[in-house]
Amino acid sequence: MDYACENLLVDVADRIATVTVNRPDKLNALNSDTERELQDVFLALRDDDAVGGIIVTGAGTKAFVAGADIAELSGLGATQGKEFAFQGQTTFTRIAQCPKPVVAAVNGYALGGGCELAIACHLRVASENARFGLPEVQLGLIPGHGGTQRLARIVGLGRALEMALTGRMVAAEEALRWGLVNAVASPDALLDTARELLGQILSKGPLAVQYALEATLRGSDMSLDDGLYMEATLFGMACGTEDMKEGTKAFLEKRKAEFHGR
Ligand code: COA
Repeated sequence: MDYACENLLVDVADRIATVTVNRPDKLNALNSDTERELQDVFLALRDDDAVGGIIVTGAGTKAFVAGADIAELSGLGATQGKEFAFQGQTTFTRIAQCPKPVVAAVNGYALGGGCELAIACHLRVASENARFGLPEVQLGLIPGHGGTQRLARIVGLGRALEMALTGRMVAAEEALRWGLVNAVASPDALLDTARELLGQILSKGPLAVQYALEATLRGSDMSLDDGLYMEATLFGMACGTEDMKEGTKAFLEKRKAEFHGR
């Protein structure tokens, strides 16, 4: 599959696609072209059978993504601003709803749209120099790519409000305590840590992973009753797969399962 882009680097190896936002001289700030490319790339990765999971990271050692491109933002009026937010939300929702696991490898500043990109990913691994923040209020703005909605679902209302109202940056260790990231690694070990995490997931039944993702993510927006109903439906679908027959048989025969995603 051809993933040629102007602002993203895409590399596929060992069933893992690494998508690197590549504007290091602007601390990987997301302009509209980069967001459009992210949308297109995630659509293509979803449909690429050679890809089992995705890592998102930023080029260089200083920033994951330092936010939406403030130079672009500064000229927006009310109507364009709403459109801009819709476009970003659509892009990040595509990432959040990707049926394959997506891990953010946060290698520095994850501010504004960068923080929102990280929390649209399913899991997050941070380097020791990572800093998460929603500094939009400092620009007379609010987060517009899902930050006011997704962050509270991960860290709770109090911490999300603190970040959105003060713009304070949260360092990697604090983010780990908050449950905002799943692991912290040294900058040199960051990508390997993300690959290892993804590798653990990819060794499991792919359909089961997909259903677990769907049940957990969709369920967080549903009533408990509706969520439990969906869980039972997806559990039933998992029971209908060859992978489930193989997984349970392998356990009983005391051998490693060989999953084929069927
Ligand atoms: N949009 C556009 N350009 C950005 C950017 C953004 N969000 N963040 C950084 N840049 C650019 C800077 O303008 C600078 O470009 P220049 O060299 O052409 O002047 C370059 O990236 C390097 O950034 P700089 O500010 O010089 O680095 P620093 O180490 O002094 O500070 C930050 C790093 C992250 C603290 C600072 O860049 C910053 O506060 N960025 C904006 C964060 C933000 O508010 N994001 C939310 C946007 S909605």
